[in-house]
Amino acid sequence: PIIAKLFDESQTELRLAEKLGINRAIIVPGNADLQDHVFGLLGTELNAALDLLLPLGQNTITVLGGKTMAEIVPNLSSNLSHHRQLMFVPGRGALGESVEIQSNTVCQVMAHYSNGKYRALYLPENVSPEVLRSLTQDPSIGEVLDYISNSDAVIHGIGAADVMAQRRDLDLTVKSQLRQQDAVVECFGYFFNRSGQVIYKIPRIGLQLEDLFKIPHVFAVAAGTKKAAAIKAYMHNAPKQTWLITDEGAANSILNGI
Ligand code: F6P
Repeated sequence: PIIAKLFDESQTELRLAEKLGINRAIIVPGNADLQDHVFGLLGTELNAALDLLLPLGQNTITVLGGKTMAEIVPNLSSNLSHHRQLMFVPGRGALGESVEIQSNTVCQVMAHYSNGKYRALYLPENVSPEVLRSLTQDPSIGEVLDYISNSDAVIHGIGAADVMAQRRDLDLTVKSQLRQQDAVVECFGYFFNRSGQVIYKIPRIGLQLEDLFKIPHVFAVAAGTKKAAAIKAYMHNAPKQTWLITDEGAANSILNGI
């Protein structure tokens, strides 16, 4: 039934995808701000979408961290590995988040539920750009970076700028720059304003915004009314092949013109 739903887009889903300029929007019932079970529904839809779109054979999937990602993972199933070999890689190194929601952890747990393999990418915090550059010369880090830039799919969350600036423990000067320049959204280390301009980028190696455009399948998973403005702002930059998996809370708010 879920796969049937993927072929049967509702008018609201079509309108939302069109408004955001992306290939597809999938809307699950409810509002994640108020109802925890919504995350399970998002995960089930993601599983079905991956099953529909990923080619058979070898697939490399880059995954980001965050609470949404961590919550949806148990809804992936080992069916994804039927006639496929899945390799999950984390999109960025540690970004100062708690362990359960780091991309390394999400990656490992995704591999567990979907019967795939994974690689880890452990990078120290707060090191100079020179040190980061020399780390990329390390063969085991270089291997993961090659996987990332040759991925078949990316799965990422979308966060509200203020929440993410706090969680990433950015310094006060950066926080006030973000406020002054009206940052509304953060996505894999980039902060954007309402019209989608990059305001600040956390210097990190791993997945970069420009990499997304050559990755065949991109899944953005974000839900709840509180994330509506962030989703809308990020989508100015999203590659067209993005599939947004969201809920009625966010979708209605975007369609009603937040
Ligand atoms: O760090 C990965 C990420 O997916 C970001 O792109 C996004 O800002 C954040 O996590 C979303 O986190 P949460 O799901 O906890 O709001």
